[in-house]
Amino acid sequence: MNIEESFLKYFGCAPSRVYRAPARINLIGEHLDYNGGTVLPAAISLYIDAAVSLRNDSKIKVYSLNTNNGFEVNLEEIKKDSKYEWANYVFGVFYILLREGYKIPKGLNILISSEIPLGSGLSSSAALLVLITHLTSEIFKLGLLPIEVVKVAKKVENNYLGLKSGIMDQASIALAKENCCLLLNCDKLEYKHIPLDLGDYTFVVLKTNVPRSLVSSKYNERVEECQKGLELIQKKMNVNNLCEISVLKLERVRELISDDVIYSRVKHVITEQNRVYEFTKALEKKDISKLGELLNESHKSLKEDYEVSGQYLDAIQIAAIHAGAIGARMTGAGFGGCAIALIKKDSFTRFREEVLNEYFNLTKLHADVLEVDIVDGPHKL
Ligand code: GLA
Repeated sequence: MNIEESFLKYFGCAPSRVYRAPARINLIGEHLDYNGGTVLPAAISLYIDAAVSLRNDSKIKVYSLNTNNGFEVNLEEIKKDSKYEWANYVFGVFYILLREGYKIPKGLNILISSEIPLGSGLSSSAALLVLITHLTSEIFKLGLLPIEVVKVAKKVENNYLGLKSGIMDQASIALAKENCCLLLNCDKLEYKHIPLDLGDYTFVVLKTNVPRSLVSSKYNERVEECQKGLELIQKKMNVNNLCEISVLKLERVRELISDDVIYSRVKHVITEQNRVYEFTKALEKKDISKLGELLNESHKSLKEDYEVSGQYLDAIQIAAIHAGAIGARMTGAGFGGCAIALIKKDSFTRFREEVLNEYFNLTKLHADVLEVDIVDGPHKL
C-alpha cells in the first residue's frame, strides 16, 4: 500500500497533498552548535513523508505507519502529555505556532511514514518537526521563511518537549540544498551553502545498529561541562563562547582550567571548530586526503576528549578505515547511532562487505552501509 492508499484507509478520504523532509548527517563540527560554533551538516536521501488533508473542525488527527498508532487533539487544547508518545512532536508544532500568534483556522488529518531509522543519530525527530512546521506553513499560508521554520522547530524541541538540543539538526534539514553542505554559524544563525563536489569520492552512512543509549543524560552533562569551562575562561578572557577561542590559545586555556575532564571537553570544542574551517578550505581545494585526515582527527577527539563515541562507533570507524575509507567519523550526538565515511565511489561494494565483516567480528552485530545522495530540504511531492 502506498501512502495515499494508507491515508484513505485510516481517514476515509484522499489526501490533498504529500510533503517530504530528509534526514541529515553532519560532515564535521560535532557538539559545537550549543557552544556557539560553526558546523557543516548536509541533508541525505532518507525521508519522512506526511500525507495531509484539511478537516472541517479544529482537530489534529495524526497516524504513523511506522508505529501503527495514532492520536488526536483539539487545536485549542494542546498540552504535552506522555500518552501522546511520538505525536507530542507533531502537536508541539501547532502549540508553538499558535503561541507565536499564527492563525491556524482548521484542523488536519496527517499520515506519517518514515524511512529514517529512529534513534540512529540521523535526526529523525528534527525531520518530523521541520516537516510538520513546513507543511503547516504551506497549507495555511503562514509565510514562514526556511530560517523561521528552523526557529519554530527548535522552540518545539527546547520549550515544548524540554530537550536541550542545539539548532544544527533543524537547520541542516530546513535549509538544505541539493549537492551542498551547510556552513552554519549557530550563534549568529548565518549560513552559506558550499557545493559538495567530491569527484570520484562520496560519503556513505555506516549504521552501527546500536540505538543511542544514555544520549539525553550524557548530552546534558556535556552541555553543562562546556558551560562550566566557559565560565572559568571568562574570568580571564573576554569571549562569548568556546568556539570563539582559537587553537593558538589552548595553552592559555589549559592554565585557566585545572579540572582535566573540563579541559578535555573544551579542547575538543576548540580543536573541532578549527577542523571545520580546515575542512571547508580542503573542500574548496578538493583536497580529498586532507578531508579524510580531518574526519579521523574529529573522531579521535570525540572519542578521547569528548568521550561520546563508545565501542560500537569506534569499531565501525576502524572497520571503515581498514576497508579503505579516506576518513571516517561518528556523526550526530554519539553514544551509538551512525558514522560517516569518505570513500571512492567505485569501491562501494567491496568496502561495504569488508566493513560488515569486520564490524561483525568485532561486535557480533550486523551493521548497514548506506549509499546516500545529498538532497534538498522539505518540499511538496
Ligand atoms: C544532536 C543534537 C544537535 C547537536 C549534535 C551534536 O544531534 O540534536 O543539536 O548538538 O547532537 O553535534
